Amino acid sequence: MKTKHPIVIAIDGTSASGKSTNAKLVAKALGYVYVDTGAMYRTLAWYCLLKHVDIHDAKAVGALCRKWKTKLECQEKDGLRAAWLFVDGYFPEKEIRMPETAAAVSHVAAVPAVRKWMKQTQRDCIQFGNLVMEGRDIGTNVFPETDYKFYLDASLAERSARRAADGVNENLAARDQRDSQRAVAPLMIALGAKVINNSAMTSEQTSSLLLEEIRRMLPASVK
Ligand code: DC
Repeated sequence: MKTKHPIVIAIDGTSASGKSTNAKLVAKALGYVYVDTGAMYRTLAWYCLLKHVDIHDAKAVGALCRKWKTKLECQEKDGLRAAWLFVDGYFPEKEIRMPETAAAVSHVAAVPAVRKWMKQTQRDCIQFGNLVMEGRDIGTNVFPETDYKFYLDASLAERSARRAADGVNENLAARDQRDSQRAVAPLMIALGAKVINNSAMTSEQTSSLLLEEIRRMLPASVK
């Protein structure tokens, strides 16, 4: 349901810590709109590669981000409403999961002008109603005012195994290090966030725990 002040559930955490799977399950269960902010950074990384903009040239990446033609669209599929960023009328769903894009994304995400643009765009998602937003800086930077903050993590071995099971061979340690050490809005645990280490948990167990916590906190009027 739409409330006067939409509720934002912020789910941050390391790569392959189960953010997407669990954020989708939570959004579906509550009827909230799912927002994958990593997909937005990936879309910009893909667009840089497409336009032959050097991802190590922060000025050029920032300039491209300021002028690209984008639109947020909320779509419903398989009972899940989700907001996606379209560029030139296109959402590069497959392209953003390709290894070239994954390797480029944390460089693009470290550019201050990009983070400023993303923060505004991500805050604009509130136009769609209550949100479950996953990323790295949602509780610390994008919606620091929300009371619903979660931080997911799992051991590096478990996270690497999860990516491998999806057929993706990626240097997660290197990406985590770049995400945690950048100067602007680095990955960190937000003050007051509930930390869940799900190394030994299934997604059913993780999402049940998240839902239990959220429902305990929700005002009676919207439960
Ligand atoms: O969650 P993901 O793997 O799709 O994220 C892709 C990259 O984008 C990741 O390296 C970190 C970055 N990112 C970020 O810096 N801030 C966010 N809110 C979301 C993702």
